[in-house]
Amino acid sequence: MVFRQQMQAKVEEIEEILKKALPQEKSLQQTIFKAMEYSVMAGGKRLRPMLMKESFELFGGKQRDALYCFMAAIEMIHTYSLVHDDLPAMDNDDYRRGRETTHKVFGEDMGILAGDALLNFAYEKALAGIEKMEDAGCGVRALQILARKAGVYGMVGGQVVDVELTGKPLTEEQLGFIYRLKTGALLEAALMTGSVLAGAAQEDVLRMEQIGQNVGMAFQIQDDILDVTSTTQELGKPVGSDAKNEKTTYVALYGMEAARKAVEEYSGKALAALETLSVKSPYLNALIKSMIHRKK
Ligand code: IPE
Ligand code: IPE
Ligand code: MG
Ligand code: MG
Ligand code: MG
Repeated sequence: MVFRQQMQAKVEEIEEILKKALPQEKSLQQTIFKAMEYSVMAGGKRLRPMLMKESFELFGGKQRDALYCFMAAIEMIHTYSLVHDDLPAMDNDDYRRGRETTHKVFGEDMGILAGDALLNFAYEKALAGIEKMEDAGCGVRALQILARKAGVYGMVGGQVVDVELTGKPLTEEQLGFIYRLKTGALLEAALMTGSVLAGAAQEDVLRMEQIGQNVGMAFQIQDDILDVTSTTQELGKPVGSDAKNEKTTYVALYGMEAARKAVEEYSGKALAALETLSVKSPYLNALIKSMIHRKK
């Protein structure tokens, strides 16, 4: 099977896992269930659960039921970060994943609550996953990583500095800090938790973190490039959002050519680190390459 078909099949499998993981009840708070489903099932690229599963397979993981809970959890955390990132108080964007943003459809109050709900439900799911495990110790370690990388030492911390330094010129160090945390941290978490759940050795988990960090830098710089070069139609989210919000991106600081070169360099580092592992995954290799050359 060619890579694109393989990827499509994997996305479909993830969509099934996500659908099953969301609350199904019809009760008085069902507006929030609808808003959760609306934002999660809108059709993102599903890269974080995919990276988690590939790293799990790479290290010979066996307990798939627990893995599936963690895959759903990381996509819920990622989706909550997007719902909140799009709010009027943050990037104030009206489109996401090819449709109107959650707060546009459900109102700002429900947008905030949908994000809260997804974040909390993610941890409920991850804990349900741990409950299914024979070796709960691995599950707890995976949850520690996920929680830390999503929080003030990870994604939230990066978003804070991103917001605070909006409209200001950034040093290379500040820009790197923002990108490593706001975007890199969850990608690192995906690769690390998949490995931990599979029982990988600590040194391999740290190697996965390093790969995730480089993938994260490449991924965010590519996101900045696409914000300038793509179309809303193709991206499924507004182009020009960074200029509108006076964000100092890699492209704004160093120019388009340097940005493209940086994407190649960071991805090269990620692929080189992947090569040093004793286990091999041609799909993971191709996936990382595709994330660099992506058009959306
Ligand atoms: C968007 O992430 C936010 C960034 C970290 C750049 P993705 O590009 O993975 O968004 P989806 O999940 O495909 O919508
Ligand atoms: C946000 O970066 C990354 C998150 C943690 C949500 P951006 O603000 O550039 O993400 P997009 O372009 O809106 O997806
Ligand atoms: Mg933002
Ligand atoms: Mg944004
Ligand atoms: Mg962006």
